[in-house]
Amino acid sequence: MRIDILTVFPDMLEGFFNCSMMARAQKAGLADIHLHDIRDYTTDKHHKTDDYPFGGCAGLVMKIEPIDRLITDLKSQREYDEVIYTSPDGEQFNQKAANSLSLLNNIIILCGHYKGIDYRIREHLITREISIGDYVLTGGELAAAVMTDSIVRLIPGVLSDEQSALSDCFQDNLLAPPVYTRPADYKGWKVPDVLLSGNQALIDDWEFQQSLERTKRLRPDLL
Ligand code: ADE
Repeated sequence: MRIDILTVFPDMLEGFFNCSMMARAQKAGLADIHLHDIRDYTTDKHHKTDDYPFGGCAGLVMKIEPIDRLITDLKSQREYDEVIYTSPDGEQFNQKAANSLSLLNNIIILCGHYKGIDYRIREHLITREISIGDYVLTGGELAAAVMTDSIVRLIPGVLSDEQSALSDCFQDNLLAPPVYTRPADYKGWKVPDVLLSGNQALIDDWEFQQSLERTKRLRPDLL
């Protein structure tokens, strides 16, 4: 899967995608993540990516030309399944959206900034607008990182069997059960006996009951 991220701050994301699972997924050829600096697509001598809004309200708006040039350039090279814009007023991102996006071949994620982007970009170039939560970030870069991380880890082969995404929180609308590792007794704080019993059917049942109980208590809205 190829993900092209369009940003005015590629440095913010460079380190993130060069570490850990994201780096491994790229090295293994399972994810192809490209960062594009919108500034490279400006034509004026000051490389301006933003301007004052018509109508006189406060703040700056991202300009249409460099973004259109960049998206047009990418689209001339391949077909894109979605052109996503990160915005606090978009649809709420969740595991279901991550699952469906992970099945696509090529997506573009445009990171918003300042007061937003010239609305014509949203009308003519964007196919989907996504928010990562009901709060306002200074820019869409963190949202792009959050989405890309949760999408890429779902691509078959990125996680090992033991880390399988199938046992994730939210995958079946249930929170994950508690997990423990050695030592089985630490300062008298004991791991539940059932997990040491070796009886897989009992363990599976205990984990399911724990998931159910935690979901009812912590996130009843998921049930
Ligand atoms: N840009 C600013 N805030 C955002 C949010 N909550 N989600 C996605 N993009 C954003």
